[in-house]
Formats: sequence, C-alpha cells, structure tokens
Amino acid sequence: MIEGVRQSGCEKRIWRHNDVDHLEQLLRAAGTERPKLIVFETLYSMDGDVAPLHRICDLAEQYGAMTYADEVHAVGMYGRRGAGIAERDGAMDRIDVLQGTLAKAFGCVGGYIAGASSLIDAVRSHAPGFIFTTALPPAICAAATAAIRHLKQSQSERARHQDRAARVKAMLTLAGLPVMPSDTHIVPVLVGDALKCKAASDRLLTEHGIYIQPINYPTVPRGLERLRITPSPYHDDALLDALCAALLDVWERLGLALNDRPLAANDKVARMDGIFA
Ligand SMILES: Cc1ncc(COP(=O)(O)O)c(C=O)c1O
Repeated sequence: MIEGVRQSGCEKRIWRHNDVDHLEQLLRAAGTERPKLIVFETLYSMDGDVAPLHRICDLAEQYGAMTYADEVHAVGMYGRRGAGIAERDGAMDRIDVLQGTLAKAFGCVGGYIAGASSLIDAVRSHAPGFIFTTALPPAICAAATAAIRHLKQSQSERARHQDRAARVKAMLTLAGLPVMPSDTHIVPVLVGDALKCKAASDRLLTEHGIYIQPINYPTVPRGLERLRITPSPYHDDALLDALCAALLDVWERLGLALNDRPLAANDKVARMDGIFA
C-alpha cells in the first residue's frame, strides 16, 4: 500500500497512527476542493489494534475525501461473513476501496480490491502492475473461492480463533511473559532487543519446533522488538501449553525479564482451569 502511494506520484501527508484529530487537521489544511484519499488498515498486524472506521469515514464525508482500507489481517476472521472489520463494524458501505488477501485466513495466494464498478474499471484499465502480470492460476482461484464460500457461512472457525487467542493471551500473561495489550487475535510478546528477538525466534524453531516471526525495526520502533504470535483455530490446548513452556524456557535461557510473580507450573494450570472452566 505504501509502495502504491509512492508510485502514484501524488503528494502525501502521513497522519499519526489512529489519531483522528491529526487526520482532521491534515484534511482541513488540504481544503475541501482538492481530491483526497485516506489510506489506512482496519486491523494493524503488529499491535493488533483496530482503526476507528466510522470516525475516519465521518471525516472523509465532511472534507470530501475518498477512503482506502487494507483488510488483509481481518478478512475471513471478522464480520458475520468474514468480510473483515468493516463488516463487523457496519462500515463496509462507507469505504470506497477495500483491499484484502486470499492468503492468510483464506490459505491461498493473491488478493483483491473491492469498490464501485467504475473505480475497479479504472484500475483495470490503468494499473500497469495489474495489466502486465500473469493472472492467478485456475487451481488457486478454485481453492480461494472454496475457502471464501466456506468462511462466508461457517462461524465456528472465527469463534474458535478468538477463543484460542484469548487463551494464549491469558496463559502467557499468567506465566509472567510480557504480553502487549491487543484488541484482536494478534498476540505480541515484548522482547525489546533486536538480537535477542531473533535469537528467541531461532531457538523456538530449532529447539522446540515452533515458528514465530521475530519483529524488529523498521517494522516496529526500536525498543519495541517483539515476537508476534497468531494462534490458529486448530491449535489445541496441548499445543498452547507447549508454546507457553517453550517461551518460558527461551526467556530464561536468554536472560529476558518476566513480569512480577510468575506462577509456578501447577499454580498456572490451576488458574487456567479456573478461567476456562
Ligand atoms: C497489512 C498488509 N497488507 C498487505 C499484505 C500483502 O498481502 P499478500 O501477502 O497477500 O500480498 C500484507 C502481508 O503481510 C500485510 O501485512
């Protein structure tokens, strides 16, 4: 999306993260006559926070701007039919362009934008990145269509996904691991050191068979390096227990700090059972 903004050659102003007062200042300064496009994500993948969609759309209407929202981290996972956060929040018809992926929740590759047919026609006619690229192969299209059809109907994966995320957050927090607050299925665990973050990820993979990406600068600010955990609906309790034990092992061996009064293993299990009874 950032690359698209750069390639467009348009002037850009960067608004502070989820700060609608700052967005309003920039929109006001640009004036109502000038064409404007507000570009944002609905669910931010590093902190797991969510954009204030209706407030952004209110400002777009007030100042005559169009809106472009990236739902890549939300499609399949939020909304009654899995269309994303804008569907969950009842804002789909207020956003001019919705961008999603066929990867991540849909498990394939490729992506899409959705919007008014005239706008889509303009992109089809003028976007070189689209025109001069081979189309997705039929097998991928069929697999993605099946995944979308399934997740439009079925709620069980979404419910289970939220349940798994809540359990991981509670378990790791009870164990004293520095879980960062998040409103969604993203579970960031703060490391605060780039080398240790990479080392923790490597050890989890080589010694425990668990792959969790290290997130370092420039994806996140220096000092906020983290492991970004995204449990799936198919991680059962035993797998989550193993994750917690592996993280505690890695934390101890890398000399990373735990929060106050981490619980003993038995105590932890007892309290987990209480929470999830
Ligand atoms: C916010 C965001 N938008 C878009 C993409 C690109 O999605 P895809 O891998 O399907 O091209 C990613 C990939 O991780 C992403 O994090």
